[in-house]
Amino acid sequence: MFKSTFFILATIFCLVILADGTKYRDCQNVKSEVNDAITSLEISGCEKPPCKLRRGTTTFLHETFIPNRNINQLKTSVKAILLNLPVPFIGVDNVDASKDIYTTDGQKAEWPLIAGREYHYNNSFAVEKFYPTVAPIVHWALVEGNDVVTCFLVNARIV
Ligand SMILES: *[C@@H]1O[C@H](CO)[C@@H](O)[C@H](O)[C@H]1NC(C)=O
Repeated sequence: MFKSTFFILATIFCLVILADGTKYRDCQNVKSEVNDAITSLEISGCEKPPCKLRRGTTTFLHETFIPNRNINQLKTSVKAILLNLPVPFIGVDNVDASKDIYTTDGQKAEWPLIAGREYHYNNSFAVEKFYPTVAPIVHWALVEGNDVVTCFLVNARIV
């Protein structure tokens, strides 16, 4: 019991250390054949983590990425990691992201996405009033099947 509690605390401590310091980082713990393709990331109202997600408001996300192979479709994989446990972000996790992908001139992307071209992923999500005021690490990936195409982790705080 003591041992496992210590292990969990140590893991949380490591995650916090790793996730701190930079605006975001690659999801190196995620098994993937595709390297992280993100070239820039903006989260509204979040110059610097932890990102304050205000309940009853909408947060906007803008990610620029360059896939290194052609992509036929994208889905989200969005988890809030709390006490080292990934909890699916209801309504945002496991939804089609294909409609949210744009070319550099702001047009809807044509599919498949082409390797080496730059694309934009724009999304917004509601921070519901009933969310508990917790401080998760948000894990946000775009996946094709089991392959992670883009992924980032960011410290957040629901306020
Ligand atoms: C995506 O979001 C960025 C930053 O908010 C904005 O400048 C851009 O116009 C958006 N693009 C589309 C197609 O909505």
